Amino acid sequence: MDGDIIVVRDLKVSYGKRVVLDGVSITVKKGDIYTILGRSGSGKTTLMRAILMLEKSLGKIEVLGVDLNSARESEKEKIKKSYGVMFQAASLFTSLTVGENVAVPLKESAKLDWETTVDIVRFKLSLVGLEQDVFNLYPYELSGGMRKKAALARALVLDPKIIFLDEPTSGLDPVSADDFDRTIAELNRLLGITVVMITHDLDSFFGISKRACILRDKKVLAEGKPYDIMKQDDEWLKKLFFGERGSKFTRWNHG
Ligand SMILES: Nc1ncnc2c1ncn2[C@@H]1O[C@H](COP(=O)(O)OP(=O)(O)O)[C@@H](O)[C@H]1O
Ligand SMILES: [Mg+2]
Repeated sequence: MDGDIIVVRDLKVSYGKRVVLDGVSITVKKGDIYTILGRSGSGKTTLMRAILMLEKSLGKIEVLGVDLNSARESEKEKIKKSYGVMFQAASLFTSLTVGENVAVPLKESAKLDWETTVDIVRFKLSLVGLEQDVFNLYPYELSGGMRKKAALARALVLDPKIIFLDEPTSGLDPVSADDFDRTIAELNRLLGITVVMITHDLDSFFGISKRACILRDKKVLAEGKPYDIMKQDDEWLKKLFFGERGSKFTRWNHG
């Protein structure tokens, strides 16, 4: 459909004989902040890696109107160029400054002089809300939250259409996690960038996602708007949302 930016249908991914995803279907729309929620080991990262063309899979994956199964290499390369990715570890090179880290993808793909590169990097740093003086700092000199933002700036440096974030706020204190989420929402609003975010954090699920899916038992248990998913009649979902951790979000939203 028009406006569908990622369409996954009946996806199956195995590691050896072990089937990890079996019949997964999701739809990410243009301008979404789409959250993939699920327990550790439920296949969230695997789903993301399949869409990134890093895992072999069966079924259909269509991105920006291109069916990845039948696409030519050149078409796939073009799709890859439209991706910005922040992997779970999101590690920066420790021997490079923040500015040099953010510049890495630019150096690899574009022949720009250093002055232009610096301009672009400085712009991306400001987009994610980092002060310009972090440019010359080394990763160890930053807080955890700032390091994640620097990794985000690096993922944005080639102007992706879609950005993939694998548990970006895990390991952050709640204030830094909220701040990171707000940055994502702001980028989505300002640039119209489509966001696919893996999380097991209900704060992010309810706080910023426009649409979401829940992975369970190798399948999608539910897909839709967070509060619509919350209201579904399913024991497992009820435990998730109305149990101890979930109830702070759902206490006032039973209706
Ligand atoms: N490269 C791999 N080889 C074998 N098994 C893997 C590999 N990657 C992940 N798995 C297994 O697949 C399942 C799903 O993993 P993953 O997609 O990383 O889950 P999640 O991101 O939801 O925690 C887990 O049981 C994991 O152990
Ligand atoms: Mg994972």
